[in-house]
Amino acid sequence: MANQTISGSPTRPIYLDYQASTPLDHRVEKVMADCLQEYIGNPHSSTHRFGHRARHAIDKAQGHIATLINARPPEIIFTSGATEANNLALLGIARAHTGPRHIISVQTEHESILQPLDYLATHEGIEVTLLQVDKNGLIDLGELTSAIQPETILVSVMAANNETGVCQNISAIGQICAERSILFHTDAVQTLTTESIDVAEQNISLLSLSGHKLYGPMGVGALYVREGTDIAPLMRGGAQQRSIRPGTLPTALCVGLGEACRVINENRSDERDHLQNLRAMLTQRLKSGLGNPVEINGEEAPHIPGCLSITFEGIEAEDLLYELPDLALSTGSACSSMSGEPSHVLKAMGRNSIEIARAVRLGIGRPTTAVEIDYAADQIVAAYLRLRADDRTDGNHETRKHRNGMS
Ligand SMILES: Cc1ncc(COP(=O)(O)O)c(C=O)c1O
Repeated sequence: MANQTISGSPTRPIYLDYQASTPLDHRVEKVMADCLQEYIGNPHSSTHRFGHRARHAIDKAQGHIATLINARPPEIIFTSGATEANNLALLGIARAHTGPRHIISVQTEHESILQPLDYLATHEGIEVTLLQVDKNGLIDLGELTSAIQPETILVSVMAANNETGVCQNISAIGQICAERSILFHTDAVQTLTTESIDVAEQNISLLSLSGHKLYGPMGVGALYVREGTDIAPLMRGGAQQRSIRPGTLPTALCVGLGEACRVINENRSDERDHLQNLRAMLTQRLKSGLGNPVEINGEEAPHIPGCLSITFEGIEAEDLLYELPDLALSTGSACSSMSGEPSHVLKAMGRNSIEIARAVRLGIGRPTTAVEIDYAADQIVAAYLRLRADDRTDGNHETRKHRNGMS
């Protein structure tokens, strides 16, 4: 793939931000459209056939989600997305326990893990340990083991990072937790389209996923909660989903999430190969076009194939993105770009603020084509060389930002 001749020109702009969100798969769209037509009524109405039919469609969706991770259907709790699933996992487990409680997580987790943990530490007396990572973004399993205390009730470690794509050793972490009867939660939002996860084999007690990160709809996600796990609800107000997450289920969204999981179940290894080929092509093109000035963050660690965090020497990521109006890229996660804060993930990996300001995240997804990658690589190389040439002739970044009207 890396050396093949590519011809044709892609439709622009080119979407390369698949860690922020994935488009709806056409199969999911079809199933959801049919569902909106076919099912009326509340899926929790048990006195008539409209309710039964909607409930049956949701049960089927639950089955597809469960199959994807080798869980049982009743262990799948629908939520509004992974932010809610992560909050439910952390707050729900903490509040279901009494006495001194300790939770272990990692500095590079998503904000929907870090902020609830901060809340628990500040307001609910929970002790929290955040493990450090090495320069490749990996935790040390020895440090995890040493951090465990008699009061430790939960370990939460994401399966793949949303900024770098780096994958932690989920099986080993699950084993460490299982041997000590500690619950293990993983945020698997970025993992499921390409990596296989088996909650039984990998000793995972809770797992979060999100519809819009796996070619399903926005506004729906799920938390897998192993049968028999004590978990307190975040909200009260109904008996739906065993009162763990009350509220009327949105039939079409649940059905869409189920279909998205069914599609992954069928195509995961092809999708992985597709993304791996495109990634190899992109990295080869950037490295041959630019040479050493390109560093891939977390390159030496296991990673999901669709996510590339690249640091470009000597230029600011913001300037590079400004030069690339045809490419939808990002400087970090969607959340960190909103807050304007430098990436806490790259910081934890030991990068300084100058290096962090030079990092761009490139996401390759199911619809990405070789023609698009070819075009994107050409554009990135040309823009980078242009910026470096500008620097040599007309000074520093401030000059360029003012000229571009950016503040
Ligand atoms: C790793 C990870 N966890 C959680 C979330 C939150 O997901 P949602 O948008 O479904 O709330 C995201 C979204 O960016 C993510 O990348």
